[in-house]
Amino acid sequence: MKKLSIAMLSMVLAGSMLLTGCGGGNTEQTTTDEGTDSATTETAGTEGGVLRMGTNATFPPYEYVDENNEVAGIDADIAAAIADKLGMELEITDMAFDSLIPALQSDTIDIVLAGMTVDPERAEQVNFTDSYATGVQVIIVPEDSDIASPDDLEGKNIGVQTGTTGDLQCTDAYGQEFVKQFDNGPLAVAALLNGQIDCVVIDNEPAKNYVAANEGLKILDTAYADEDYAAAIAKEDTELFEQVNTAIQELKEDGTIASIIEKYIPSDGGSEDTAA
Ligand code: ARG
Repeated sequence: MKKLSIAMLSMVLAGSMLLTGCGGGNTEQTTTDEGTDSATTETAGTEGGVLRMGTNATFPPYEYVDENNEVAGIDADIAAAIADKLGMELEITDMAFDSLIPALQSDTIDIVLAGMTVDPERAEQVNFTDSYATGVQVIIVPEDSDIASPDDLEGKNIGVQTGTTGDLQCTDAYGQEFVKQFDNGPLAVAALLNGQIDCVVIDNEPAKNYVAANEGLKILDTAYADEDYAAAIAKEDTELFEQVNTAIQELKEDGTIASIIEKYIPSDGGSEDTAA
Protein backbone atom coordinates (compact mmCIF):
# COMPACT_ATOMS: atom_id res chain seq x y z
CA MET A 1 0.00 0.00 0.00
CA LYS A 2 2.72 2.40 1.00
CA LYS A 3 4.91 1.17 -1.84
CA LEU A 4 2.07 1.64 -4.26
CA SER A 5 1.46 5.24 -3.33
CA ILE A 6 5.14 6.07 -3.57
CA ALA A 7 5.27 4.54 -7.03
CA MET A 8 2.17 6.47 -7.99
CA LEU A 9 3.63 9.65 -6.63
CA SER A 10 6.75 9.33 -8.71
CA MET A 11 4.70 8.54 -11.78
CA VAL A 12 2.56 11.59 -11.19
CA LEU A 13 5.66 13.61 -10.52
CA ALA A 14 7.27 12.50 -13.77
CA GLY A 15 4.02 13.20 -15.61
CA SER A 16 3.70 16.66 -14.18
CA MET A 17 7.25 17.50 -15.14
CA LEU A 18 6.45 16.55 -18.69
CA LEU A 19 3.38 18.75 -18.60
CA THR A 20 5.25 21.68 -17.16
CA GLY A 21 7.99 21.28 -19.71
CA CYS A 22 10.69 20.35 -17.26
CA GLY A 23 11.80 17.31 -19.19
CA GLY A 24 14.29 18.76 -21.55
CA GLY A 25 17.69 18.93 -19.93
CA ASN A 26 20.46 18.49 -22.46
CA THR A 27 23.27 17.53 -20.20
CA GLU A 28 26.05 15.32 -21.32
CA GLN A 29 26.09 12.32 -19.06
CA THR A 30 29.01 10.12 -19.62
CA THR A 31 30.86 7.39 -17.93
CA THR A 32 34.58 7.56 -17.61
CA ASP A 33 35.74 5.76 -20.69
CA GLU A 34 38.49 7.82 -22.20
CA GLY A 35 40.91 10.60 -21.48
CA THR A 36 43.90 8.41 -20.80
CA ASP A 37 45.41 8.79 -24.24
CA SER A 38 47.24 12.03 -23.70
CA ALA A 39 49.88 13.29 -21.31
CA THR A 40 49.44 14.50 -17.73
CA THR A 41 46.09 13.28 -16.52
CA GLU A 42 46.96 13.40 -12.85
CA THR A 43 45.45 16.75 -11.89
CA ALA A 44 41.73 16.77 -11.27
CA GLY A 45 40.02 19.91 -12.45
CA THR A 46 42.06 20.50 -15.54
CA GLU A 47 41.27 20.59 -19.22
CA GLY A 48 40.51 17.22 -20.76
CA GLY A 49 39.57 15.69 -17.43
CA VAL A 50 36.28 14.44 -16.11
CA LEU A 51 34.23 16.67 -13.82
CA ARG A 52 32.52 14.30 -11.40
CA MET A 53 29.37 15.96 -10.12
CA GLY A 54 27.28 14.60 -7.26
CA THR A 55 23.64 15.47 -6.72
CA ASN A 56 20.41 14.10 -5.30
CA ALA A 57 17.97 13.97 -8.17
CA THR A 58 14.68 14.15 -6.27
CA PHE A 59 14.53 17.92 -6.25
CA PRO A 60 12.76 19.23 -9.36
CA PRO A 61 13.35 21.53 -11.16
CA TYR A 62 16.93 21.69 -9.87
CA GLU A 63 17.50 17.96 -10.41
CA TYR A 64 15.32 15.01 -11.24
CA VAL A 65 15.58 11.82 -13.24
CA ASP A 66 14.04 12.39 -16.66
CA GLU A 67 12.17 10.05 -18.98
CA ASN A 68 15.48 8.82 -20.42
CA ASN A 69 16.62 7.88 -16.94
CA GLU A 70 19.17 10.68 -16.89
CA VAL A 71 19.66 13.40 -14.32
CA ALA A 72 18.21 16.62 -15.72
CA GLY A 73 17.37 20.05 -14.40
CA ILE A 74 18.85 23.45 -13.60
CA ASP A 75 21.91 22.09 -11.79
CA ALA A 76 22.70 19.55 -14.51
CA ASP A 77 22.49 22.28 -17.17
CA ILE A 78 24.63 24.68 -15.15
CA ALA A 79 27.19 21.94 -14.52
CA ALA A 80 27.25 21.15 -18.25
CA ALA A 81 27.94 24.82 -18.98
CA ILE A 82 30.74 24.88 -16.38
CA ALA A 83 32.29 21.68 -17.75
CA ASP A 84 32.09 23.13 -21.23
CA LYS A 85 34.00 26.25 -20.19
CA LEU A 86 36.64 24.15 -18.44
CA GLY A 87 36.99 21.78 -21.40
CA MET A 88 35.98 18.88 -19.17
CA GLU A 89 33.61 16.00 -19.53
CA LEU A 90 30.69 15.99 -17.10
CA GLU A 91 29.78 12.84 -15.21
CA ILE A 92 26.79 12.97 -12.84
CA THR A 93 26.25 10.64 -9.89
CA ASP A 94 22.91 10.55 -8.10
CA MET A 95 23.24 9.84 -4.37
CA ALA A 96 21.65 10.56 -1.00
CA PHE A 97 21.71 14.25 -0.14
CA ASP A 98 23.53 13.67 3.12
CA SER A 99 26.24 11.67 1.31
CA LEU A 100 27.23 14.58 -0.91
CA ILE A 101 29.64 16.39 1.42
CA PRO A 102 31.28 13.11 2.58
CA ALA A 103 31.66 12.16 -1.12
CA LEU A 104 33.52 15.43 -1.76
CA GLN A 105 35.72 14.83 1.24
CA SER A 106 36.57 11.27 0.18
CA ASP A 107 37.28 12.44 -3.40
CA THR A 108 34.50 10.26 -4.83
CA ILE A 109 33.19 13.36 -6.62
CA ASP A 110 34.69 16.76 -7.52
CA ILE A 111 31.70 19.06 -7.20
CA VAL A 112 28.20 19.20 -5.75
CA LEU A 113 25.37 21.00 -7.46
CA ALA A 114 22.22 20.01 -5.62
CA GLY A 115 20.27 23.14 -4.78
CA MET A 116 22.63 23.12 -1.82
CA THR A 117 22.26 26.05 0.52
CA VAL A 118 25.33 27.93 1.66
CA ASP A 119 25.46 27.33 5.38
CA PRO A 120 28.21 28.24 7.88
CA GLU A 121 28.55 24.69 9.22
CA ARG A 122 28.87 23.21 5.74
CA ALA A 123 31.33 25.99 4.85
CA GLU A 124 33.66 24.60 7.51
CA GLN A 125 33.74 21.32 5.62
CA VAL A 126 33.72 22.41 1.96
CA ASN A 127 34.23 25.55 -0.13
CA PHE A 128 31.19 27.23 -1.65
CA THR A 129 31.36 29.09 -4.94
CA ASP A 130 29.46 32.30 -5.59
CA SER A 131 25.75 31.69 -5.31
CA TYR A 132 23.85 31.01 -8.54
CA ALA A 133 20.23 30.91 -7.29
CA THR A 134 18.09 31.37 -4.21
CA GLY A 135 15.44 29.35 -2.44
CA VAL A 136 13.30 29.59 0.66
CA GLN A 137 11.90 26.93 2.99
CA VAL A 138 8.12 26.50 2.80
CA ILE A 139 5.60 24.28 4.56
CA ILE A 140 3.47 21.79 2.61
CA VAL A 141 0.21 20.84 4.37
CA PRO A 142 -3.02 19.07 3.42
CA GLU A 143 -5.58 21.59 2.15
CA ASP A 144 -7.74 21.15 5.26
CA SER A 145 -4.83 21.42 7.72
CA ASP A 146 -5.11 23.51 10.89
CA ILE A 147 -1.49 24.58 10.35
CA ALA A 148 -1.53 28.12 9.01
CA SER A 149 1.95 29.40 9.87
CA PRO A 150 5.27 28.29 11.37
CA ASP A 151 3.82 29.16 14.81
CA ASP A 152 1.43 26.23 14.47
CA LEU A 153 4.20 23.67 13.95
CA GLU A 154 4.87 23.28 17.66
CA GLY A 155 4.14 19.66 18.61
CA LYS A 156 3.34 18.59 15.04
CA ASN A 157 5.08 15.82 13.14
CA ILE A 158 7.21 17.53 10.54
CA GLY A 159 8.63 15.66 7.53
CA VAL A 160 11.96 16.72 6.06
CA GLN A 161 14.67 15.40 3.74
CA THR A 162 17.56 14.14 5.87
CA GLY A 163 20.40 16.59 6.25
CA THR A 164 18.76 19.50 4.47
CA THR A 165 18.42 23.01 5.86
CA GLY A 166 14.72 22.25 6.42
CA ASP A 167 15.82 19.37 8.65
CA LEU A 168 18.37 21.48 10.53
CA GLN A 169 16.04 24.45 11.02
CA CYS A 170 13.08 22.36 12.18
CA THR A 171 15.22 20.30 14.54
CA ASP A 172 16.49 23.53 16.10
CA ALA A 173 13.10 25.17 16.29
CA TYR A 174 10.76 22.30 17.22
CA GLY A 175 12.95 19.52 18.62
CA GLN A 176 14.29 16.34 17.13
CA GLU A 177 11.42 14.12 18.32
CA PHE A 178 8.99 16.01 16.10
CA VAL A 179 11.15 15.94 12.99
CA LYS A 180 10.72 12.85 10.79
CA GLN A 181 13.57 12.37 8.35
CA PHE A 182 13.04 10.90 4.86
CA ASP A 183 15.56 10.00 2.18
CA ASN A 184 13.98 12.48 -0.20
CA GLY A 185 11.17 14.97 -0.66
CA PRO A 186 8.79 12.67 -2.60
CA LEU A 187 8.96 10.10 0.24
CA ALA A 188 8.15 12.81 2.78
CA VAL A 189 5.22 13.94 0.63
CA ALA A 190 4.00 10.33 0.33
CA ALA A 191 4.02 10.10 4.14
CA LEU A 192 2.06 13.34 4.33
CA LEU A 193 -0.54 11.97 1.90
CA ASN A 194 -0.76 8.80 4.02
CA GLY A 195 -1.37 10.86 7.15
CA GLN A 196 1.84 9.73 8.87
CA ILE A 197 3.06 13.30 9.32
CA ASP A 198 1.36 16.72 9.53
CA CYS A 199 3.48 18.73 7.13
CA VAL A 200 6.66 18.77 5.06
CA VAL A 201 9.25 21.55 5.25
CA ILE A 202 11.27 21.84 2.05
CA ASP A 203 12.54 24.33 -0.53
CA ASN A 204 9.90 26.29 -2.46
CA GLU A 205 10.53 25.14 -6.04
CA PRO A 206 10.49 21.37 -5.38
CA ALA A 207 7.51 22.01 -3.09
CA LYS A 208 5.59 23.55 -6.00
CA ASN A 209 6.39 20.49 -8.11
CA TYR A 210 5.27 18.04 -5.42
CA VAL A 211 2.04 19.97 -4.78
CA ALA A 212 1.27 20.23 -8.49
CA ALA A 213 1.71 16.46 -8.78
CA ASN A 214 -0.64 15.59 -5.91
CA GLU A 215 -4.25 16.44 -5.11
CA GLY A 216 -5.15 17.96 -1.79
CA LEU A 217 -1.94 19.70 -0.75
CA LYS A 218 -1.05 23.37 -0.44
CA ILE A 219 1.99 25.50 0.37
CA LEU A 220 2.29 27.98 3.23
CA ASP A 221 4.88 30.70 3.01
CA THR A 222 7.24 30.92 5.90
CA ALA A 223 9.04 33.84 7.40
CA TYR A 224 12.36 32.13 6.79
CA ALA A 225 15.01 34.16 5.01
CA ASP A 226 16.10 33.43 1.47
CA GLU A 227 18.80 30.82 1.13
CA ASP A 228 21.61 30.99 -1.41
CA TYR A 229 22.36 27.94 -3.54
CA ALA A 230 25.98 27.39 -4.54
CA ALA A 231 28.28 24.69 -5.84
CA ALA A 232 30.47 22.97 -3.24
CA ILE A 233 34.02 21.70 -3.78
CA ALA A 234 36.48 20.00 -1.42
CA LYS A 235 38.62 22.40 0.63
CA GLU A 236 41.90 21.09 -0.79
CA ASP A 237 40.74 21.27 -4.40
CA THR A 238 41.68 24.94 -4.73
CA GLU A 239 42.62 24.89 -8.40
CA LEU A 240 39.28 23.44 -9.47
CA PHE A 241 37.53 25.81 -7.08
CA GLU A 242 39.06 28.88 -8.74
CA GLN A 243 38.22 27.59 -12.22
CA VAL A 244 34.64 26.74 -11.36
CA ASN A 245 34.06 29.97 -9.50
CA THR A 246 35.34 32.00 -12.43
CA ALA A 247 33.14 29.96 -14.77
CA ILE A 248 30.08 30.61 -12.59
CA GLN A 249 30.84 34.34 -12.47
CA GLU A 250 31.10 34.42 -16.27
CA LEU A 251 27.93 32.35 -16.73
CA LYS A 252 26.10 34.77 -14.45
CA GLU A 253 27.46 37.83 -16.24
CA ASP A 254 26.63 36.62 -19.74
CA GLY A 255 23.09 35.61 -18.77
CA THR A 256 23.55 31.86 -19.26
CA ILE A 257 22.53 30.97 -15.71
CA ALA A 258 19.51 33.28 -15.80
CA SER A 259 18.33 31.68 -19.02
CA ILE A 260 18.81 28.14 -17.67
CA ILE A 261 16.72 29.05 -14.60
CA GLU A 262 14.12 30.75 -16.81
CA LYS A 263 13.88 27.59 -18.92
CA TYR A 264 12.82 25.52 -15.89
CA ILE A 265 11.12 28.24 -13.83
CA PRO A 266 9.46 30.62 -16.29
CA SER A 267 9.13 33.99 -14.57
CA ASP A 268 5.51 34.35 -15.73
CA GLY A 269 4.85 31.29 -13.57
CA GLY A 270 5.12 33.48 -10.47
CA SER A 271 8.37 32.01 -9.17
CA GLU A 272 10.26 33.64 -6.36
CA ASP A 273 13.53 32.13 -7.44
CA THR A 274 15.92 34.38 -9.21
CA ALA A 275 19.43 34.19 -10.46
CA ALA A 276 21.48 35.41 -7.53
N1 ARG B 1 18.52 23.69 -0.05
C1 ARG B 1 18.41 22.63 0.89
C2 ARG B 1 19.74 22.34 1.52
O1 ARG B 1 20.75 22.73 1.05
C3 ARG B 1 17.85 21.36 0.28
C4 ARG B 1 18.62 20.83 -0.88
C5 ARG B 1 18.14 19.46 -1.30
N2 ARG B 1 18.68 19.14 -2.57
C6 ARG B 1 18.46 18.01 -3.25
N3 ARG B 1 19.03 17.88 -4.43
N4 ARG B 1 17.71 17.06 -2.76
O2 ARG B 1 19.81 21.69 2.54
